[in-house]
Amino acid sequence: MTKKTVWTKKDLLGLEYLTAEEIELILDTTRSFKEVSTRKVKKVPTLRGKTIVSLFFEPSTRTRVSFELAAKRLSADTVGITAGTSSILKGETLKDAAKNIEAMNVDVVILRHSTSGAPHLLAKAIEPSVINAGDGAHEHPTQGLLDIFTMREKKGSLKGLKVSIIGDIAHSRVARSNIWGLKKLGADVTVCGPSTLIPLEIEKMGVRVTNDLDEAIKSADVLNVLRIQLERQKKALFPSIREYINLFGVNKERLKNAKKDILIMHPGPINRGIELTPDVADSEYSVILEQVTNGIAVRMAILFLVTGATGGSPREGRKK
Ligand code: CP
Repeated sequence: MTKKTVWTKKDLLGLEYLTAEEIELILDTTRSFKEVSTRKVKKVPTLRGKTIVSLFFEPSTRTRVSFELAAKRLSADTVGITAGTSSILKGETLKDAAKNIEAMNVDVVILRHSTSGAPHLLAKAIEPSVINAGDGAHEHPTQGLLDIFTMREKKGSLKGLKVSIIGDIAHSRVARSNIWGLKKLGADVTVCGPSTLIPLEIEKMGVRVTNDLDEAIKSADVLNVLRIQLERQKKALFPSIREYINLFGVNKERLKNAKKDILIMHPGPINRGIELTPDVADSEYSVILEQVTNGIAVRMAILFLVTGATGGSPREGRKK
């Protein structure tokens, strides 16, 4: 008899801290929630009466809107604060801001912050659940989960799946969350980029390293192409954008040697013409917008699990 996995964690801080079984539980729960967004009335009463506050101290389109829609589709009450609209501008610390929000009896705090470890600090300091919506170059667990969910949906099992992650690995929280999750689920991960954008000792995470894009493409079932994060690079780490495109830009010509059913993924935002040519981003291989669609269901699943909601299942609220 197989043991049923039960969610016990207050927070979601990173895929590093989850077991393979917990990741599978999130993916299975996501599958149930995906259907809700296809209904005429895209709402279930699961989190009615719960309050969710999102604190986004770095720019975001996808993650912020996706969490907001996920919470609303679960009938939670939501409030969003950005760096420009919070009293952090007046000198309040992040911890003080969070303690004040806690005093208003909220259930979940979602945090995006440029400092690695900021959500971990909050999770220790406050009672509400804390969800990491991206901390510096550390982790972006919900992006990792939606990437892995999309791969599983398209390719079936993750066991032995060959995933090549391309580009700015060093500054990428998405890469780190992908690697933690994919390795736990048995995928075979290669990272490819300029040596200056590959962290030292990344092999210790169980990945293969190459600087040859053609090789990384040829062996891959999935290419997860990352954004060049110029805003996090303290100095020039490659000679020029033109040189980067020549060596690491994914284009149709390079895909001639790819498997016929290769999946092209990108977490967004895309620098069109740099990491990917527009014809690849919009090609039949691309699942970039499906990743975005799946992001809402993943975030619904996470909100459902961390709040320990027992008040409703995805099936409730279905139109008779
Ligand atoms: N993928 C991602 O995190 O996008 P945003 O920065 O727009 O949220």
